[in-house]
Amino acid sequence: MALKKEDYPISVQFDFDAGEFSPQEKSVERKVSDLSVMFQDKAAVESMVKAGDPLVYEIFYYGFKTSVSDMALGTTRIQPGKVGNEYYMTKGHFHEAHDQPEIYFCVKGEGYLLMETHEGEFQADKWTRGTISHIPPMWAHRVVNTGNEPLVFVATYHLAAGHIYKDVEEKGFLKRLVEINGEPAFVLNEQRK
Ligand SMILES: [Fe+2]
Repeated sequence: MALKKEDYPISVQFDFDAGEFSPQEKSVERKVSDLSVMFQDKAAVESMVKAGDPLVYEIFYYGFKTSVSDMALGTTRIQPGKVGNEYYMTKGHFHEAHDQPEIYFCVKGEGYLLMETHEGEFQADKWTRGTISHIPPMWAHRVVNTGNEPLVFVATYHLAAGHIYKDVEEKGFLKRLVEINGEPAFVLNEQRK
């Protein structure tokens, strides 16, 4: 019996310098105005949005669906920068499904992967080029770029995982990453007190 079109293998090509692969199905841009609720310094958000609303990060995406499986490939490219003294970061999310993990692979730049459970367990893993992290189910995850160049990471997960952004977007993680005396430092998130 002939295979269906979607059941054939697909390969895409990653460009390590650009931090993108092709072909890709879609891409998403997040600017400071899209992330205003996440950053603590609202005056800095307002002035940055007025001054041109800079790009914070982009996601490039491909969903590999066959007749019996689904696997997503994503690449995220976070620009270097800060809102006030707080480093650029992704929205972060929990997975909707309670049994769905994810692999993140840092291919460029440096920063931190922040992870937290609903029960309040918090873990921050330092990332440099080449760090690969396994995020177990039920751990929210967010990536922060603390370097001076774009931070690029590749993600693989099942489409069935789903995403819940709201909790993390509004309350944030237990700790924020801010620049103090020119260095990244963790401070407690005031919104969580
Ligand atoms: Fe995820």
